[in-house]
Amino acid sequence: MDYHDFYQIRSNQVVFSDVKLKSTIRKYCAHPYQRPISARAVRQFEHLLEHLHRFPRPIIVDSGCGKGKSSQILAQSYPDHLVIAIDQSEYRLRSLRSLQADNIYIVQENCIDFWRLLSASDLIIDMHLLLYPNPWPKKRHENRRWYAHPIAPLLLNMSRLTIMRSNWLAYLQASAVVANQLGLCHSLESLPNLIEPMTHFEAKYCQHHVSLYQLKIINI
Ligand SMILES: C[S@@+](CC[C@H](N)C(=O)[O-])C[C@H]1O[C@@H](n2cnc3c(N)ncnc32)[C@H](O)[C@@H]1O
Repeated sequence: MDYHDFYQIRSNQVVFSDVKLKSTIRKYCAHPYQRPISARAVRQFEHLLEHLHRFPRPIIVDSGCGKGKSSQILAQSYPDHLVIAIDQSEYRLRSLRSLQADNIYIVQENCIDFWRLLSASDLIIDMHLLLYPNPWPKKRHENRRWYAHPIAPLLLNMSRLTIMRSNWLAYLQASAVVANQLGLCHSLESLPNLIEPMTHFEAKYCQHHVSLYQLKIINI
């Protein structure tokens, strides 16, 4: 099997309309996301606040952390920070739980609810990573992609620095359009082939020489 081809995103979406996307984002800004936040997410957030009260540290959020390789790397690289590792899959989080470092805080939750709670609090998030989010390649699923989801305005404003990585350039280009519309500085670059992989997905892509991209969004 040719894994290089296998890992390319195949989408029936040929056109990415900036005009349509901007109009969608205008609508989301005028009518912020209203879905009730789950009681479980609120409880988990209260536990996080208690933890931060006892052990105050600056915060990094690793959303959709999967098996948590990136959370471990971040925890080692930023020993003074607390890395909040969020994923909805208990199965994926299992290996991270068994290796827990004292500056990793694991949250098994839908990140949408958790982002809303973080944003509504007075916590400052120094860095937010979204590494290889689910691409939802089908055109009819576009509003499940984070840049076109009703949560997008809150998501991109949540941290001082947001880092997104993907093997789908169009996904990050569309995210940059939204960042621009929200008045946020951003830069989009190709990642060199021989980077030290930060995640399990990144390791697979690097092994098969798949092109990877990174978008940085700065919220001053
Ligand atoms: C493509 S995987 C990438 C995992 C990891 N970042 C990596 O690069 O290896 C996407 C991850 O996001 C998680 N995820 C997707 N939607 C989510 C949501 N709404 N809330 C929390 N986690 C979510 C999935 O469970 C999965 O682990």
